[in-house]
Amino acid sequence: MKNLIENTVEFVKEKLKGAEAGHDWYHIERVWKLSKKIAETENCNMEVVELAALLHDIADPKFHNGDETLALKVSRGFLENQHTSEDIIEKVLFIIKNISFKNMAEAPENLPIELKIVQDADRIDAIGAIGIARTFNFGGFKNNLMYDPEIEPKLNMSKEEYKKSDGTTINHFYEKLLLLKDLMNTPKGKAIAAERHDFMLQFLDQFYKEWNVS
Ligand code: ADP
Ligand code: NI
Repeated sequence: MKNLIENTVEFVKEKLKGAEAGHDWYHIERVWKLSKKIAETENCNMEVVELAALLHDIADPKFHNGDETLALKVSRGFLENQHTSEDIIEKVLFIIKNISFKNMAEAPENLPIELKIVQDADRIDAIGAIGIARTFNFGGFKNNLMYDPEIEPKLNMSKEEYKKSDGTTINHFYEKLLLLKDLMNTPKGKAIAAERHDFMLQFLDQFYKEWNVS
């Protein structure tokens, strides 16, 4: 008989068929691997970390008419079907509900370590070379401009403004990606993020050089 993690992998792969490239199975696989790497350095419940990493984008509200409860319903349904204990289900759903950058202002205090780990992993996949690729892919998906020197980044956007995601892709670096390094929760997450952050700064330098043909 297959174990719960293997069944979850199969379930998520199936659910995410046809997903936008930045939020597809390979994003989940990277976040899962990063979560395990960070978890090795922390005292935590590995099963909760792995399940939350695998299920965290199962029904992203951006792609489901803003429905913020669907991911919770789908995950609960799956886990109950797998006869997972109610204690584990609650821990996993709490993470899925509170992991997002855009929900940061509403998140409870004293977050569990398992959430901190998966959140770091998800944020790390948003930066560096992969982060840059995902961001341009998402901008293209939304038909946004890559860059417009006339449009300033909007800092401190409300959740509603952020969700509209109608700015330029370069501005998304200032509105989110470059802020993530200082939001890391764990020492391991901080170390990985620092390297990827520097790479984004180099990318932006080169981008402006080429844009200005200087
Ligand atoms: P979270 O789930 O952490 O709240 P989002 O789902 O908003 O974050 O963003 C996840 C990834 O989607 C970002 O890291 C980025 O790659 C891409 N993305 C989100 N909003 C935008 C945007 N306005 N422009 C370009 N990429 C975006
Ligand atoms: Ni994610």
